[in-house]
Amino acid sequence: MRFGVNKRVPWLKFGVVGVIVFFGFLVFRGTFRYFSGEKGTVIPRTPMLSQVKVPERVFRGDLNGKKLVALTFDDGPYSETTPRLLDILKEKGAVATFFELGMRAKDNTEITKRVFEEGHEVGSHTMYHQDLIELSNEAVEGDIKEANAVFEEILGIKPKITRVPYGNSNQFIREHVKTPLIYWSVDTKDWETKDTNKVVEETMKATSDGAIILYHDIYGSTVDAIPIVIDQLRDQGYEFVTVSELAELRGVRLENGEVYTKFEP
Ligand code: NI
Repeated sequence: MRFGVNKRVPWLKFGVVGVIVFFGFLVFRGTFRYFSGEKGTVIPRTPMLSQVKVPERVFRGDLNGKKLVALTFDDGPYSETTPRLLDILKEKGAVATFFELGMRAKDNTEITKRVFEEGHEVGSHTMYHQDLIELSNEAVEGDIKEANAVFEEILGIKPKITRVPYGNSNQFIREHVKTPLIYWSVDTKDWETKDTNKVVEETMKATSDGAIILYHDIYGSTVDAIPIVIDQLRDQGYEFVTVSELAELRGVRLENGEVYTKFEP
């Protein structure tokens, strides 16, 4: 008897098709849930870091009821200052986010790896720090691609967040960056003053819960300010998280092409 064309029991045919469709749906749903991270388990706090084995994570302590802040450092890595900043962050048990330039990461691959392995987040600050709104569309795409390739080569994954130079973007740039765009809520103007006390002062004056603070790790005066900033903010009840962690802890799902300046409670 040929099973599929048995006209005497058509319900059998529909029954078999029904079972196949049902199990097919289960497999599809399971696959979708698996890849969308919806498995009934807790989604890792830092999605980017969960994709690779991180040998050492910085102890963050209990974040419950804490005010949160993200320290961010642009324009590095720079061999004269970034390793010293990493030593300070490690000693203080604080994490930060580094928006690195592809051209500098390429020349300092060991520093970029160290930043990542010590639990900090690495975002792209583009390849050459050009003002993207002044470039042709092709040049914008080329710069973003080149930077992503550099970070992927060093870290094994593409950056999950981008900070455009000078905070300048237009619709084409936002669409083609293909990551969320992270701006800032506190501008310490450290590049202008190059004065440790002023950097501390600006930070303490303008920081509120959920702030993203802009620094540049290529200045010794900024690096000198960081241990003081960490101590003073901790005294006020702040704890330090990466940008992606801050978004996640505040219940914000980061979207590609969207601009974020802070994650308030
Ligand atoms: Ni910059």
